[in-house]
Amino acid sequence: MEQTFIAVKPDGVQRGICGEIIKRFETRGYKLVAAKFVQSSEEHMKSHYADLKDMPFYGGLCKYMSSGPVFAMVWEGQSIVKLARMMLGETNPADSKPGSIRGDLCVNIGRNIIHGSDTLENAKREIGLWFKPEEMVTYTSCAQAFLYE
Ligand SMILES: Nc1ncnc2c1ncn2[C@@H]1O[C@H](COP(=O)(O)OP(=O)(O)O)[C@@H](O)[C@H]1O
Ligand SMILES: [Mg+2]
Repeated sequence: MEQTFIAVKPDGVQRGICGEIIKRFETRGYKLVAAKFVQSSEEHMKSHYADLKDMPFYGGLCKYMSSGPVFAMVWEGQSIVKLARMMLGETNPADSKPGSIRGDLCVNIGRNIIHGSDTLENAKREIGLWFKPEEMVTYTSCAQAFLYE
């Protein structure tokens, strides 16, 4: 099973979309293994988005991401890194198909409401950056046997 890091960004939190996003992951059949509601520092966001440090929007992005609370989560499931990215849609909501989170719920690239890890390697790095090992909950979902053969 893979795990991925998903975060509802400050715009998604303020617009009241946390519940809708949790619902989509739950009803798809993914298992929630960690969650926290937190306002993180600009330094923390700079580490989170370190890959983008040479992009012109990096400064504004890190400032924005630390400007208000985010809802940070770890979700688990088969091939979840790739499939969660498909659920999110494209980085630019304008390129995101209806049915995807960004295609249904937002319009602007700088306010695209949700983060999701793009590779398994980045998922591991981001989970480690946001959660302590003791914040990850180990349990068996009662739906497990009905989701996987
Ligand atoms: N051209 C841009 N202008 C403004 N913000 C951007 C732009 N490209 C990306 N961003 C912001 O930076 C975030 C991180 O970028 P990136 O990792 O490329 O996308 P994604 O979130 O889809 O993985 C995006 O979700 C978006 O909020
Ligand atoms: Mg990214």
